[in-house]
Amino acid sequence: MTKILGIETSCDETAIAIYDEQQGIVAHQLYSQIELHGEYGGVVPELASRDHVRKIIPLVDAAFKQANLSRQELSAIAYTQGPGLIGALLVGATIGQSLAFAWKLPSIGIHHLEGHLLAPMLEENKPEYPFLALLVSGGHTMLVDVKGLGDYQIIGESVDDAAGEAFDKTAKIMGLDYPGGPILAKLAEKGTDVTMRFPRPMTDRPGLDFSFSGLKTFAANKITASDGSEQSKADIAKAFQDAVVDTLAIKCKRAIKQTGRKALVVAGGVSANLALRKKLAELMSSFDGEVFYPRHEYCTDNGAMIAYAGYCHFKQENNQLPESYPIRVHPRWPMSEAFS
Ligand code: KG4
Ligand code: ZN
Repeated sequence: MTKILGIETSCDETAIAIYDEQQGIVAHQLYSQIELHGEYGGVVPELASRDHVRKIIPLVDAAFKQANLSRQELSAIAYTQGPGLIGALLVGATIGQSLAFAWKLPSIGIHHLEGHLLAPMLEENKPEYPFLALLVSGGHTMLVDVKGLGDYQIIGESVDDAAGEAFDKTAKIMGLDYPGGPILAKLAEKGTDVTMRFPRPMTDRPGLDFSFSGLKTFAANKITASDGSEQSKADIAKAFQDAVVDTLAIKCKRAIKQTGRKALVVAGGVSANLALRKKLAELMSSFDGEVFYPRHEYCTDNGAMIAYAGYCHFKQENNQLPESYPIRVHPRWPMSEAFS
């Protein structure tokens, strides 16, 4: 039975998981560096790298313990090869390649976004290929027509800030704690002002691209003009969130019409957003289609999605032992280059 160790260190989560062909995810370990970066209001790359170094080996040990497996039972090692912070990626790649070399196993470098795209496949109710994917994370916003494993066509993406980035930056402007996205979303639940309306950027022209950078400026102006009360803050948060959610839904609708896909996969950290989930469920039911999400812990960065993507490629491709184990990462790695 194939068993894959997955290593994810592209940003501020050290995450290790083991995927078993028969049983699914049998180990899932994650250490979040949120507290470490909290006082700086954003991820400090050098601190992230150093912390990955500290946590990664204990987490690998813990994963084997959790799965009650020995390393001899492993089939291959998958690690995130990019995109991400270079130092952080290098920690995962170095450990992944070194363990694979020492244990005489094939190793598989995974594109982080492919991990997110495939994460819903870990659920019992999973989509069939082909499907449309909306990838909404802190670093990326894109619509991908997924025709099969490794066959990904980007049909729309953000020309500036990613959706998660827009949430985080707007939260920072509003004086919310780090990481701001989920906190802003929580605050938005208390918003009641239905007259406040933010623009829906780039929806007045054809196409599937997004632009979110203007929304934070819009929010900043609203805050300056407000009375500073908690209720005003909640109203601004709601109006901002409504704009992001609506904009994403409008583009999804166009993409569904364009591709004729019946299944929509939503992945990446922002897919945890409840308002977005509600809106997209309504949208897909109007098309007689279905939306698929990873469970909460597989929405944000995790090792399970890397182990699973590694498993898919291990099965599909020739996995001879390599002659060497080069440690090579791609901090910037367009999907169009990775899967051409
Ligand atoms: O996929 P992810 O964990 O990391 C990246 O690869 O970027 O996504 C993190 C992003 C952050 O910007 C965070 O603020 C956002 O996802 N996020 C949310 C929510 N939960 C996480 N944004 C809006 N609403 C949420 N509930
Ligand atoms: Zn991610």
